[in-house]
Amino acid sequence: MKCRKCGEQASIELRRHNAAFCAPDFLEFFRNQVREAIRKHRMFTRDERVLVAVSGGKDSLALWDVLIDEGYETSGLHLDLGIFDYSVESRATCERFASARGVPLIVSSVAEAVGAPVPVIKRVTRRPPCSGCGLSKRYLMNRAALEHGFPVVATGHNLDDEAATLFGSVMHWQTDALPRQSPALPSTHAKLVRRVKPLYRLSERETAAFAFLRRIDYIVDECPFAEGATSIAHKEILNRLEEASPGAKHNFLFGFLERARPVFAGAPAPPLRECARCGQVTTGTVCAFCKLADQVKRAT
Ligand code: AMP
Ligand code: FES
Ligand code: ZN
Repeated sequence: MKCRKCGEQASIELRRHNAAFCAPDFLEFFRNQVREAIRKHRMFTRDERVLVAVSGGKDSLALWDVLIDEGYETSGLHLDLGIFDYSVESRATCERFASARGVPLIVSSVAEAVGAPVPVIKRVTRRPPCSGCGLSKRYLMNRAALEHGFPVVATGHNLDDEAATLFGSVMHWQTDALPRQSPALPSTHAKLVRRVKPLYRLSERETAAFAFLRRIDYIVDECPFAEGATSIAHKEILNRLEEASPGAKHNFLFGFLERARPVFAGAPAPPLRECARCGQVTTGTVCAFCKLADQVKRAT
């Protein structure tokens, strides 16, 4: 196999692109995909400070690595979920990355903000741990961005993540979730920052290869609560489709973004106002995060 760019021996084959690359040209291909995502969706400009949400996993650290090399002014944001050793290791990994690159990292603790760590939230709410956890993450990312003056938060969601979320929404015809599925969500309120996913064009395998070649030290373990999650089952189904027909995931997601999303995005979004308690945006009177914190306080 020869590299598509230079004709030397290739080290990675990308079947969905019908191409193979040597290591340096793969790194350039990867960075070009990120540049294209930022350009196409006007994610941020060179004058804007970008808050990169980093879990300690390969995707978000690969994203931060690219944005630093591209010369963007970035800060990392790590949310300490309080999930036993997994969170201790995740946080330490982000701290090591930030200090090695000499870039700032903000750490915010879910236990401090909500009143209890994710395992207690799981017990109290008796809902899947990812529901309270996901809600807290979205809320705290926006709050940290506002507090520290960032107009935009970037996450490491990749093509596999986005295709699996879309698959889940379509399986249940969650038509209200479909307009929100986008590589770039604009700010629709002064207290809501832009949210962007610059890795949406790159698969999980590609981000793993990038992290490996860049020698990024990342946490390999998944969250211990992720086992059995439907999103993982959906990823497995999509991987089987991809195996049989390379490009299936890409076609599913990109076809939706180009042809179907505009149909759903036309529906009026519910009006946003400020939570009576914390001042962050909500469609109700008190936001879901404040309600969660109340529920935790009552039970602990
Ligand atoms: P996940 O939902 O775990 O696949 O994560 C998707 C993206 O959300 C990651 O790529 C990160 O950008 C962000 N993220 C997840 N967990 C955390 C965390 N504990 N702290 C900061 N960002 C996170
Ligand atoms: Fe949120 Fe696992 S429950 S990362
Ligand atoms: Zn609130």
